[in-house]
Amino acid sequence: MDYPQILAPVLQFLHCPTPAAWVEEARKPERLPLLLTDHMVCELKAAQTAMLLVRKYIADKQGAEALLAWLHPYEAFTFREGPEPDFAALHKQIGKSIMPQTDDPWGQALIDSMVLLIKEELHHFWQVREMMVARGIPYVKITASRYAKGMLKEVRTHEPLTLIDKLICGAYIEARSCERFAALAPHLDADLQKFYLSLLRSEARHYQDYLALAQRVAKEDITSRVKFFGEVEAALINTPDEEFRFHSGVPV
Ligand SMILES: [Fe+2]
Ligand SMILES: [Fe+2]
Repeated sequence: MDYPQILAPVLQFLHCPTPAAWVEEARKPERLPLLLTDHMVCELKAAQTAMLLVRKYIADKQGAEALLAWLHPYEAFTFREGPEPDFAALHKQIGKSIMPQTDDPWGQALIDSMVLLIKEELHHFWQVREMMVARGIPYVKITASRYAKGMLKEVRTHEPLTLIDKLICGAYIEARSCERFAALAPHLDADLQKFYLSLLRSEARHYQDYLALAQRVAKEDITSRVKFFGEVEAALINTPDEEFRFHSGVPV
């Protein structure tokens, strides 16, 4: 796999690389349980975001219910202290349900990319959980970082601008995840390193899918809005952050 080729557009899209101080903190062995836990929850949140977009913007409620049902066991385990599901069995079931449909071409593009994204993020969730189990790391609930909130608070409050902004935020979150996996991989044990590098290709595609959808929804050119969120994102990454997380800023 050609990592530099996958990463080049991601690095160009982001306004700054991950600060060296974050990598220094993240590579400490004692940080691993927190990092993996936060990463696992982020995978589920990525799936939830995609699912919410489909439910909000696609009229086929029955199809959207099927997507909702996919997420339930993951959400119960992660947010409500539910039992740990049999992820292998869940994974086999996914994709067999009826998918939402629409006659609207951009709506269908949204469904297609979001359904694929949900499938992939749930698979990643399961993979991270397996890495945790293999290392004897129990799942303990943690608070979310300021990162996603910091971007979403800039989202405009009337449609279709809300959708456009949320899609741009999605693009930045995916791109940063991709960049951080690559930055962290060389400092991890061989199995984790292999796993993190295996995620680069899909996360790089996710960011491009979000960006393409944003441009498709918008009537006008979105370059300046993309730049705006790029600056907001870079400020969250480049400023001191008291909480250490997968997407946190400069550790204090
Ligand atoms: Fe993912
Ligand atoms: Fe992703």
